[in-house]
Amino acid sequence: MSPQHLAILALSLAASTALAAPAKPATRLLPTEYEARIQQATADPETLAAGKRAASYLCIWCHGEDGNSVLESIPNLAGQNPVYLLTQIQKFGDGHRNSEFMSGLIKAIKDEDRVSMSVYYAAMRPNTPAATNAALIEKGRKRYLATCVGCHGGKAYGNKRIARLAGQRVSYLTHALANYRASNGTRRDPMMTPVARRLTPEDIAAVSAYLSTLK
Ligand code: HEC
Ligand code: HEC
Repeated sequence: MSPQHLAILALSLAASTALAAPAKPATRLLPTEYEARIQQATADPETLAAGKRAASYLCIWCHGEDGNSVLESIPNLAGQNPVYLLTQIQKFGDGHRNSEFMSGLIKAIKDEDRVSMSVYYAAMRPNTPAATNAALIEKGRKRYLATCVGCHGGKAYGNKRIARLAGQRVSYLTHALANYRASNGTRRDPMMTPVARRLTPEDIAAVSAYLSTLK
């Protein structure tokens, strides 16, 4: 699938979900409720099947059935922290984060499905091709240890507030860092934006290559 096809798919999916949307906007979970809802859903043996079912209508076309994305520019969701996933989904829904692909289509998805899909994708394993340029990877490792490890952790697994970066797609990482750095309204975060502003394009390329190689 080419990026052009993807854009057309996103637009048509957004249009079809908009038609199916209820007339009244749904009441949304509060950020203070995300963690408890994820814990509750994780403990329920039905959640994984429900999340897989919910994801199968839309999300798998781009993020894959097992959370390994179909294109370099689309993030893997596999292995990501479930609270982080739910938080990002809510941000697309309320406009705190913007994407031509995600913003429209996510609005019609119920909270219950948002929660179960987050738990489902978090339970999968990232498994996409990693960078192979050894010199660049080594440069990225040094940069990561100097600047990022304190928040994202030694294995880059992150936590409920901080994204997992290990095994993520190179192009997506590069794009995410460039967006924080540019402060163009697509992505902003009080912790991440100042860090990204201090990275050069060369740092971004190196650190993204390194992170893609982590398991
Ligand atoms: C048409 C392709 C497409 C579809 C369909 C799609 N996504 Fe996405 N998704 C993307 C792209 C592209 C991004 C990266 C957006 C950006 O930051 O530029 C993304 C980002 C995300 C993120 C943020 C991940 C991170 O690491 O921060 C989550 C969570 C997500 N999508 C969940 C979903 C769910 C759940 C569905 C189904 C309801 C879905 N997506 C359907 C393309 C898609
Ligand atoms: C002060 C803590 C902190 C430091 C240091 C930090 N990060 Fe982050 N990072 C975060 C937080 C918090 C988020 C999630 C922000 C959001 O919700 O958009 C994040 C998100 C990201 C994302 C987006 C991931 C995704 O799935 O969309 C990337 C990429 C990233 N960080 C890379 C880095 C790199 C590379 C470094 C070092 C150069 C770094 N971070 C240093 C806190 C930090």
